[in-house]
Amino acid sequence: MDERTATFGFKDVDPAAKPGLVRGVFDRVAGRYDLMNDLMSAGVHRLWKDATAARLNPQPGETIVDCAGGTGDMARRFARMARRAQERRGGSDAQVVVVDYNAEMIAAGREKGAPPEVVWAVGDAQALPLPDACAEAYVISFGIRNVTDIPTALREARRVLRPGGRFLCLEFSQPVSEALRRAYDAYSFKVIPEIGARVAGDRASYQYLVESIRRFPDQKRFAGMIGEAGFSMVDWTNFTGGVAALHTGRAI
Ligand SMILES: C[S@@+](CC[C@H](N)C(=O)[O-])C[C@H]1O[C@@H](n2cnc3c(N)ncnc32)[C@H](O)[C@@H]1O
Repeated sequence: MDERTATFGFKDVDPAAKPGLVRGVFDRVAGRYDLMNDLMSAGVHRLWKDATAARLNPQPGETIVDCAGGTGDMARRFARMARRAQERRGGSDAQVVVVDYNAEMIAAGREKGAPPEVVWAVGDAQALPLPDACAEAYVISFGIRNVTDIPTALREARRVLRPGGRFLCLEFSQPVSEALRRAYDAYSFKVIPEIGARVAGDRASYQYLVESIRRFPDQKRFAGMIGEAGFSMVDWTNFTGGVAALHTGRAI
């Protein structure tokens, strides 16, 4: 890929075309999104998300941005945890701001219901509809690889965080062992598009999802990009042998 193209799965496309293509994928999968995640990962994505929420450790009074938050699966966790902490220790309500550029995903999330701490906004990760230094934490879960200009999205995360604010990014990554990589490749390319075809009636969208995972930078390269965007204490934790990774950092 050169600078004049963006990746869309294994295809290189005009960067101007990518947002519409990705939006189309999530428009089509929105209604079955949560069910498909459970089927594709045999529920393991819930453990990764729980571990991410535990690392975030939401606190009363905090503003937490759930960027590319989709149907609010993470936001509900954060709101519940902040509420529990508030019941134990007091303090003011937390606010969890779900930002997603796909109104269909947000509509599916609203329909499922959410605690009052969760607010929803249609907006782009590359130009967040939020003021500077407004949040104690920014989380992006399975969203960053869909973004056209990842360095711009990382700088936006930095912009909206207060100094010392926590950055967490949960994303599919690269398995660390060759045996796991081979097994995971076979599963991803053969089984996932088939489940997509049968359950969501949409093979192409799930083919895109597995291809986009393959093209995403590995743990080390992505950590370098986070550092370049102005974060300190950059680190990562592999989940399930690197099938997914949680990248973390602090706004300077
Ligand atoms: C795989 S879903 C993840 C949803 C949720 N974070 C989760 O973990 O369940 C990816 C989401 O990223 C959103 N998205 C993709 N590109 C985006 C962008 N540039 N700005 C905001 N949201 C974006 C999509 O609309 C979709 O809802």
